[in-house]
Amino acid sequence: MQFKLAFIGFGVVGQGLTEILLEKKDMLAEKYNFHWTVVAVSDIMKGSVYDKNGLDMKKILSLVKEGKKLEEYPTGIKGMNSLATIKETNADTIIEVTFTDVKTGEPALTHIKVALSAGKNVVSTNKGPVVKQSVELLKLAEENNAHYGFEGVVMAGTPVLNLAKYTLAGNKITGFKGILNGTTNYILTRMEDGMSYDDALQKAQELGYAEADPTGDVEGLDALGKVVILSNVVLGKNLGWKDVERKGITEITIDDVKKAKAEGKRWKLIGSAEVQPDGSVKAKVWPEKLPLSDPLAGVCEAINALTFNTDELGPVTIVGPGAGRRETGFSLLVDLLNINQEMSG
Ligand code: HSE
Repeated sequence: MQFKLAFIGFGVVGQGLTEILLEKKDMLAEKYNFHWTVVAVSDIMKGSVYDKNGLDMKKILSLVKEGKKLEEYPTGIKGMNSLATIKETNADTIIEVTFTDVKTGEPALTHIKVALSAGKNVVSTNKGPVVKQSVELLKLAEENNAHYGFEGVVMAGTPVLNLAKYTLAGNKITGFKGILNGTTNYILTRMEDGMSYDDALQKAQELGYAEADPTGDVEGLDALGKVVILSNVVLGKNLGWKDVERKGITEITIDDVKKAKAEGKRWKLIGSAEVQPDGSVKAKVWPEKLPLSDPLAGVCEAINALTFNTDELGPVTIVGPGAGRRETGFSLLVDLLNINQEMSG
């Protein structure tokens, strides 16, 4: 199928997807019959450009890398804001990759509602809207004969939501536990090597792991968002962000990390949820000092890991990248290919 794509937001994740799309263009066409053009890019900081016949994305990437505004692109309509880009362009599929706010879901929530209501597909790595209204948004997509893909909201391109939905189908999943934030796991790993907390955080930002506002990472809000999403989408519950106990890693000092190492242990920020006998869920994000014999203690750098408790198989664990430019961009490609497959019948 032929897709006309529009980027709403064009930070590291959008750029990562663009690199993959450009490098794999022929393979995607030959192997999956997936053909694409990007008709619009609209970013609150970088500006916007629209050409109904398609943009040269190599040129767009160069402009952005040189720190230039998208208005410097030689042709096309300039200055359309995000909502105009969603509503008034000929894009059939919106790639929503603006910044995340897990408390309000905005502005992404509005972007996604407007797109789905207009019958446009949405793929997004934005956690906020899924935390706030996953059920409502999936219903809106169905009512408008559109698709909403969000595999990358948990553990980037490492398949977690699709794993639970398709590959583990038929199991009763009663809980989960894991390392769900790449930035904090990277910081804790570097602190064990002797790097200061501030330097490690700066490095995580440079590597594209951290959120636009990294407070959300280090205070555990990002991991909390993922715990809410997994509880609602996989366990079928209806949690809000206030229903999860939370503590981040900001109080862990380099001395704490060294002391743990001497004891044969490691600090990890753990997100978990367990369905209780009365059907309620106990959900938490908390730093834990794990013995090195615990499999989660061996998961370092920006790698994440998640164990689902299933009735047929017992614990099933997946380990893989949890953040990063191409690692997260790739999750959007997975969503696009799934839509391509579903629409091709
Ligand atoms: N800031 C997030 C993290 C990005 O560090 O895990 C992926 O959700």
